[in-house]
Amino acid sequence: MSETEVVLSVRDLSVRYGAAQALDGISLEVHRGEVVTIIGGNGAGKTTTLKTISGMAEMLRTSTGEVTFQGRRIDGMASNKIARLGMAHVPEGRRIFPAMTVDDNLLIGSYRRRGEVEAVASDLALAYERFPILGERRRQPAGFLSGGEQQMLAIGRGLMARPSFLLLDEPSLGLAPILVSRMFDIIRTLAGEGTTILLVEQMARLALGVADRGYVLEQGRIVADGPSAQLLEDPKLKAAYLGG
Ligand SMILES: Nc1ncnc2c1ncn2[C@@H]1O[C@H](COP(=O)(O)OP(=O)(O)O)[C@@H](O)[C@H]1O
Ligand SMILES: [Mg+2]
Repeated sequence: MSETEVVLSVRDLSVRYGAAQALDGISLEVHRGEVVTIIGGNGAGKTTTLKTISGMAEMLRTSTGEVTFQGRRIDGMASNKIARLGMAHVPEGRRIFPAMTVDDNLLIGSYRRRGEVEAVASDLALAYERFPILGERRRQPAGFLSGGEQQMLAIGRGLMARPSFLLLDEPSLGLAPILVSRMFDIIRTLAGEGTTILLVEQMARLALGVADRGYVLEQGRIVADGPSAQLLEDPKLKAAYLGG
């Protein structure tokens, strides 16, 4: 993968919340077609990393460093502009709209594609093919879905923008084990279709199972990185993150 095009490059990124240093000079790269995971415990800075990349945190004024996406500097750029470049961020905790129908939640993901009526309709059909349970409940308020279904809806909505680059923040969080493995199957399918993915997870072993490469984040610093197979064999990581 190392010879392919660098899609995302983060250079020496630091982020503070007031006096608290959430990220302390992290650098990472994602190549086109890769699945890259950032693993680390609670509070390590994973969500902050994704929010800063996608502009969801409005690149906090207390940030320094560079973020380049498809050759263009995006640090400081508004999140909607970054989204228009082909990046979709599925945030932590299923931010769906509970009072709106499943259909409408998905269509929100395509709101920038106003001229593409037929393509949007066919992507909606694809979303229901991908997530049949959502299709059965398309006219129901999304708030009636289970946690796992809401997580699928959040991902489905992200895909409705036809992103070339997908940021996933802990898609397995709070899911029953059977749904966790479904979720990872879905990620594998998306990767197989050529979507470039940056995946944040606490489920380190599973994340490294789908990813080509990984970075380990600890207290705002990258303490290890490499091909997934290598990280899975690392004795220190085994003890700390991989359940021995
Ligand atoms: N809005 C915020 N205000 C202050 N501190 C924050 C805020 N968001 C996150 N933090 C702190 O920044 C650090 C990194 O948080 P986060 O990026 O959410 O970690 P992770 O996603 O790995 O659990 C933590 O110490 C957290 O308490
Ligand atoms: Mg988080």
